Amino acid sequence: MSIETLIQLEQRDNFIGRHIGSDDAEEKALLAAVGATSLEDLSTQIVPADILREEFLDIKDGRTEFEAINYLRSLADQNKVFKSYIGMGYNDTIVPPVIMRNVLENPGWYTAYTPYQPEIAQGRLEALLNFQQLVCDMTGMELANASLLDEGTAAAEAMAMTKRTVRKNKSNTFFVDENCLPQTIDVIKTRAEAFGWEIIVAPAADAADAEVFGAIFQYPGKGGNVEDFTDVITALHAKDALATVATDLMALVALKTPADMGADIVLGNAQHFGVPMGFGGPHAAFFATKDKYKRSIPGRIIGVSIDAQGNQALRMALQTREQHIRREKANSNICTAQALLANLSSFYAVYHGPQGLKTIAGRIHRLTDILALGLQKAGIKLANDTWFDTLTIITDDRDAVIQRALAAEANLRLDSAVSVGVSICEKTSAADIAELFTIFLGDAAEDFNLDVYELDAEIVASGFSSIPVELVRTTEFLTHPTFNSYHSEHEMLRYMKSLEVKDLAMNHSMITLGSCTMKLNATTQMIPLSWPEFSTIHPFAPKDQTVGYEQMIGELDDYLKDITGFSAICMQPNSGAQGEYAGLIAIKKYHESRGEGHRNVCLIPRSAHGTNPASAQMASMKVVVTNCDEFGNVDFADLKAKAEEIGDNLSC
Ligand SMILES: Cc1ncc(COP(=O)(O)O)c(C=O)c1O
Repeated sequence: MSIETLIQLEQRDNFIGRHIGSDDAEEKALLAAVGATSLEDLSTQIVPADILREEFLDIKDGRTEFEAINYLRSLADQNKVFKSYIGMGYNDTIVPPVIMRNVLENPGWYTAYTPYQPEIAQGRLEALLNFQQLVCDMTGMELANASLLDEGTAAAEAMAMTKRTVRKNKSNTFFVDENCLPQTIDVIKTRAEAFGWEIIVAPAADAADAEVFGAIFQYPGKGGNVEDFTDVITALHAKDALATVATDLMALVALKTPADMGADIVLGNAQHFGVPMGFGGPHAAFFATKDKYKRSIPGRIIGVSIDAQGNQALRMALQTREQHIRREKANSNICTAQALLANLSSFYAVYHGPQGLKTIAGRIHRLTDILALGLQKAGIKLANDTWFDTLTIITDDRDAVIQRALAAEANLRLDSAVSVGVSICEKTSAADIAELFTIFLGDAAEDFNLDVYELDAEIVASGFSSIPVELVRTTEFLTHPTFNSYHSEHEMLRYMKSLEVKDLAMNHSMITLGSCTMKLNATTQMIPLSWPEFSTIHPFAPKDQTVGYEQMIGELDDYLKDITGFSAICMQPNSGAQGEYAGLIAIKKYHESRGEGHRNVCLIPRSAHGTNPASAQMASMKVVVTNCDEFGNVDFADLKAKAEEIGDNLSC
């Protein structure tokens, strides 16, 4: 056998052989069973000639797994892992190795799917219930769901939920605190425009006098300030408007809960609790509200029930409000959400427990205090006078400060022409604070001789607090035994295993799901997720530090254009339903760009996944359902008849 044949055999057997599974003999037997002589012959037999693809994809030959992982390594090596002080909703965190290895890197958890079937999902249902309890405790709210996709879309969901909940308030305007994260404001604007609502972006206090159906506030603000929204929320309630607070779980360890301010909806990104930044995601967003609004909340809810033997058992609850049942009347197109990421955050809280979290949050807050005091001693002004983990620092030496930071492989938040921001996180050390003094003061740092521990002693002695006394958290959290029992590695390992073994996932068998073909991602594909060059990159890191990511995303973009035949790909949607929504918004804008905005009817076959009609109504389209035969095949005659009947109003 020639070396060439050996290499080909090795290559063929390598990835394809390991993931298709059937060898030559089995493939021949399968083909014979269906009366085909080859895969090509089978394709020509079953794919209508007019849609059978002639030319091959412009994709290079397949790589072996070894070659592929080396190639991914070469892309990772082009990314630069800098210390991140950018904040803006994303803060570096330490993923406990016992959770990294036994959940994030464990197919028993990452191949499990949405727990539609409680009998085979009691393990992850409990982990998600822990997530819900974590969110309820930290926010002070009565009810939380099992996660949403990200903070931006969660905020847009809160706006839509507010609109469908307020009865007497007829305003079509929603108020947004100017201190909200810019990426959140952008998503809210997109959704509001599609719904035909106005947006006001202004200082939080202005909401009290504004004619709006609801408002959203950021707590702490993007610049770091910690504001009390109690009065403005009371003013909103007086005009039958609801108040949403976007916040951070780590900050809520130290801060008064939004519930105690009267908030109706509380949301945020759980990334800070043990989920890598990952250049922007995925992370689980959390979403909580008052019990009286439970029928309006988007996303999945895990409920406590009993089984046939009368024992406690968990299942998805209140499903009648969801897209797969309500379809175009659904209050949201959320389907899969972020189960794995929610489980990572809930296990982070289980492992650290309330005391461990108080220590982590306490250290983050104290290091921020020390940095603030040191800089102020050096005559540097701060834009915010209250904070938990974020400072906005006014410096007329901005560019030099940024250059010194980059030289120290640190990224600051580029706030304004005269200010930069620093967000302290779980990975920040006392030595990092000393380095930040040098970054801000340059050579002058020696003159001020700022010592982290002396500054700390001064803060302790003075009883100084950067959190207004009325906003210091006094309420308990995570008191349930689950959060106070598994703090040693072996206890945590056994708790996670005890849940994992209750579940059926693809490490046990194939999973039959009507609308999805559950495929086992190759371990080679999953390994790079844990590499710091991919996992610890902040989404707003300077471009010259993310060359590997840009190249990888660019190549995927080209592959998808080749596969789909389209001329552009948008990578923003972080779920199938969000992809539907993005496509529908593109179609809506196209019609508007041609003066045909009146085209607003969307035809959707009855067999389409429930998210499709839900996404269409979110894009303000009228949904007309078309028939299918008993196998779910599209009834073309009905489709044609309805298209003709709708005529010029047909959008898509
Ligand atoms: C056919 C189909 N369409 C759309 C969706 C919605 O995708 P996602 O849950 O990622 O939003 C699903 C999810 O299961 C699906 O199976």
